[in-house]
Amino acid sequence: MTMRLDKLLGHTGWGSRKQIKELCKGGTVTVDGTVIRDSAVQVDPDRQQIAVGNDVVCYAAHYYMMMNKPAGVLSATTDRFSQTVLDLLPRQYSGAGMFPVGRLDKDTTGLLLLTNDGSWAHRITSPKKHIDKVYEAVVDGVIPADIEEQFRCGIVLDDGLECLPARAVITAPQQLDIVVQEGKFHQVKRMCAAVGLTVTALHRRSIGALVLDAALEPGTFRSLTEQERDLPFST
Ligand code: URA
Repeated sequence: MTMRLDKLLGHTGWGSRKQIKELCKGGTVTVDGTVIRDSAVQVDPDRQQIAVGNDVVCYAAHYYMMMNKPAGVLSATTDRFSQTVLDLLPRQYSGAGMFPVGRLDKDTTGLLLLTNDGSWAHRITSPKKHIDKVYEAVVDGVIPADIEEQFRCGIVLDDGLECLPARAVITAPQQLDIVVQEGKFHQVKRMCAAVGLTVTALHRRSIGALVLDAALEPGTFRSLTEQERDLPFST
C-alpha cells in the first residue's frame, strides 16, 4: 500500500506537514537509504525502509495498547488543565489519532485500552456486545447482605437510569469485585451509591478475558499482541 511520505511521517509523530516538508528539505529523511527531499512522494511502508536520521520509522495503520492508568490522569485526548492518558504515550503515537477505549474517572486506576481503530473500540464499549468489565472497589458503608441479588436484578441509579444486570462479589470486609457490561458515567460509583456505599478506590482489572499485565507499573503501557486484541471478546 502506498501513501504520501508526509502523511506517513505525520502519522508516526514527526510533526505537521509543514515541519515534515522542512525535515525533508534538510536531507535527513531517507527511503531505502536514498535522501528524499520531496515530502509529497509516494512510499510503501511494507516494502521500503523509511528513516529520519538514524531512526527507522515503524508504521502501522492501527495501534492497540494497554495502559495501567494511574490516578490523577484524565481519560481524554486533550485537556487544557490536566494531564491526559495520551500525554503518557511517546511522540511516535502523537499523530496517529489515538484515543482511550471508554473512560475511567480521573481517580480510577487500572486497565485502559488505547487505539486508533474505531471499530475495535466500538465493539468493546458497546453494551450490546456484553463484554464484562471487572472492577475492584474499596467501599465505605455497610455492604447489604443481598447486594449480589440487587446487582443481578439491575440497579436503578439516582436519576432513574436502569442498569443492565451486573455482578457484585464481596472479596474482603470493605471490598467488592463488580462486573458490568456497560459504561455509563460514574457507573460503578453510582451503582454502589444506590445501595448505600461510597467507593473510596476503584481499579479496573480486566475487559473480557484481557487482564491488566501485572508487570505494567502505573502510567506505563505496552502494545497488545495480535492474540490479545481478540481477548476482550472472549470470556
Ligand atoms: N465506574 C465508575 O464509577 N468509574 C470508573 O472510572 C469506571 C466505572
